[in-house]
Amino acid sequence: MTTERKEEDTVAYTVENGIAWVSFNRPEKRNCMSPKLNRQMMRVLDKLEFDDEVGVLVLTGEGSAWSAGMDLKEYFREMEALGLGGTRQAQRESYGWWRRLRWYQKPTIAMVNGWCFGGGYGPLYACDLAFAAEEAQFGLSEINWGILPGGGATKVATDLMPMRKAMYHAMMGENIDGKTAVEWGLVNEALPLAKLKDRVTAVANVLLEKNPVALKATKDAVRRVGEMTYDNAEDYLIRAQEAANSYDNTGRKEGIKQFIDDKTYKPGLGAYDKSKQQG
Ligand code: ACO
Repeated sequence: MTTERKEEDTVAYTVENGIAWVSFNRPEKRNCMSPKLNRQMMRVLDKLEFDDEVGVLVLTGEGSAWSAGMDLKEYFREMEALGLGGTRQAQRESYGWWRRLRWYQKPTIAMVNGWCFGGGYGPLYACDLAFAAEEAQFGLSEINWGILPGGGATKVATDLMPMRKAMYHAMMGENIDGKTAVEWGLVNEALPLAKLKDRVTAVANVLLEKNPVALKATKDAVRRVGEMTYDNAEDYLIRAQEAANSYDNTGRKEGIKQFIDDKTYKPGLGAYDKSKQQG
């Protein structure tokens, strides 16, 4: 199959045991992001975000790639040919779903199975956690074809990596493997590809045990406070917890009760039993 793949077939997903497995689905094009794929991904994210069957979303890729970045033909050349309006539309569609993913209601995990280039750093960063195959290859290849790492990719590199690593990565256009991506801060862990899905499933299962309101408040807080002064962060975190209480006023009380009164768990060693929570 070539570029004729239908828009609705550019993203695949299944939901199993609380986990939504969402895949970039253009393996024949190394899952590079075309306008069609970007539009379809937004639809899929929309559909899954408030689905009660979904507790965690995993973003992965079909075939040998996670994503080979933006589609140089369909995203750049063909949209640029439509003029500034075309370029801006393409940007809105891609940046739009990355932004949606950064602030997604559910916890998100990037499961990087293979190639991850350029624009792929947008969704990589958007996911709360990232696990990679040791065999995966990460690169800011923009410099190799004559542009700067845009679409947020430079920001991702400088947010996640020390300055010297980010500079080397952006200027040299060399790839790094999964283990180096861990050392440089791009992903949490790297494992042999054959073990990647089991590890991601185990992590997702831990997240499924946690209070979902607290998880959303926590992931947003981690992203927000980095830009704040200590005092602003302190204040934000008070307000964020109080806002979370308005969605779930019983969870933390149950958490305290099961530890202090029932003595059925220890918060230092795991999560309270959500199934016993009233209301
Ligand atoms: N844009 C458009 N088409 C692409 C892209 C892309 N980013 N990546 C792969 N393809 C296409 C190829 O043109 C080829 O199409 P064809 O079958 O019609 O000839 C098909 O996908 C398969 O690609 P190959 O290069 O044959 O696959 P291979 O496994 O040998 O190499 C690799 C994989 C290394 C990922 C290579 O495809 C590549 O370098 N892709 C570009 C990576 C890149 O620099 N992306 C842009 C980053 S910058 C940005 O995102 C802003």
